[in-house]
Amino acid sequence: MPNWIAACNVGDIEPEDVMRFDHGGRTFAIYRSPDDKYYATDGLCTHEKVHLADGLVMDNIIECPKHNGRFDYRTGEARGAPVCVNLKVHGVRLDGGKVMIDLG
Ligand code: FES
Repeated sequence: MPNWIAACNVGDIEPEDVMRFDHGGRTFAIYRSPDDKYYATDGLCTHEKVHLADGLVMDNIIECPKHNGRFDYRTGEARGAPVCVNLKVHGVRLDGGKVMIDLG
């Protein structure tokens, strides 16, 4: 069941960047791609529990700050060692200047 919540404002994140969002004891990463689309994933790397929002966005890839593991943040697919477990992705929609993510 969808559970939409406002994570931030459109414009809070620069293009090709990422922001951390914490809610209800969970942590998420919200991305803005170079082509100006928004995406959301679970906030912690699946290798060790490191905040991906501290990492580097390159095109559609988030690189983990700890061991440089890589994920495609659009699909959550693990794309570079040492990560081998995919990242959970969350639906995103824009609503009245807010970036809404689906926690359901
Ligand atoms: S903690 Fe992310 S790659 Fe190791």
